[in-house]
Amino acid sequence: RGTEPASFTDNEIIKEQLVQNNAKGSLLPKTIEFIDGELYLLDQTQLPVKTVIEKQISIEQVWDSIKVLKVRGAPAIGIAGAYGLLYGVKDMQNVPADKFLTVLKEKADYLNSSRPTAVNLSWALKRMVQKAESRKELTSTQLYKVLVDEAVLIHEEDKHLCKSIGLNGAPLIKEGYGVLTHCNAGALATSELGTATAPMYTAHAAGVNFKVYADETRPLLQGARLTSWELQKSGLDVTLLCDNMAAHIMSQGLIDMVIVGTDRVAANGDVANKIGTMGVAILAKHFGIPFYVACPSSTVDMETPTGREIVIEEREADEVCNFGARRTAPEGMKVRNPAFDVTPNEFVTGIITEIGILKAPYSESLAKAYKI
Ligand code: MRU
Repeated sequence: RGTEPASFTDNEIIKEQLVQNNAKGSLLPKTIEFIDGELYLLDQTQLPVKTVIEKQISIEQVWDSIKVLKVRGAPAIGIAGAYGLLYGVKDMQNVPADKFLTVLKEKADYLNSSRPTAVNLSWALKRMVQKAESRKELTSTQLYKVLVDEAVLIHEEDKHLCKSIGLNGAPLIKEGYGVLTHCNAGALATSELGTATAPMYTAHAAGVNFKVYADETRPLLQGARLTSWELQKSGLDVTLLCDNMAAHIMSQGLIDMVIVGTDRVAANGDVANKIGTMGVAILAKHFGIPFYVACPSSTVDMETPTGREIVIEEREADEVCNFGARRTAPEGMKVRNPAFDVTPNEFVTGIITEIGILKAPYSESLAKAYKI
């Protein structure tokens, strides 16, 4: 338990195997594609029953796709937001550049209002606006092209970030391990490979045998509908658990480590992630199981000092009162539906990033890694 990452040489071996595996082609549909200037999103609300790719035609549609979780997961909503912003200024290519920039900022604020907790969305939108502002001398037509390139770059960079998280985290997963995850921080939540799942895919590609336990993740079942779907489709050994089974399974000694993703890491290492994550972290501490969080730099928010300042999205009561099409609570029931919780940094064994595994004290290791 609590084993450190393997050496550089091990990473190199894994890298080679990963490249070979990628050459065989991924079995998963792409979460996000940008083809001939148009955005295509895999509608994750229909998984695992149907695989539907939906062409986006307006910024309003992209706002809605983010809001209703057709596209979800912190890195994925950042990428979708960057592409979605293009729709907001596509028709502004013949106006003066200052007008273009004003509209760009308004549209970025609009898209940012779709979901508050994952910092990747505001990070990507801010990056797009800053890119345009740094090229004020260009015409609006040229600015639009610069923004297309920036959105593609954000998307491409995410692929590299996920790959590096996989390489850095895979040596933690040993032969015969049981690895528990919560929600979906998988390929579906990113450009590819995922964050929490990247070490799993990478270790699997390197021939390590281990079992993944996926919490179903009430109320929207991202673990049941998405994580178990993508891991099963990719040939990993995955077992689905109801959320309330984790303590029992841990008590039986079946879990050797936990890896989850995150929507925002505060400067002190407090970590916001899908509701229920904090409970898993507390359980892991009780049973002496290492609890890792995996994320790219785009999820680290050095401007938010602690988890207390992270805005937690509160969603509709309907999500809690219904299970699929079936009503499961009395009409008029009072409901709380916070979509995320914040795990205090003291429960986090390490943060697996693209540059390595950060350890406590996180205010120091994060500041060193992501100086502002
Ligand atoms: O509400 P969701 O499905 O967007 O929540 C997703 C999560 O909580 C993920 O764990 C997090 O965004 C990390 S994704 C790599």
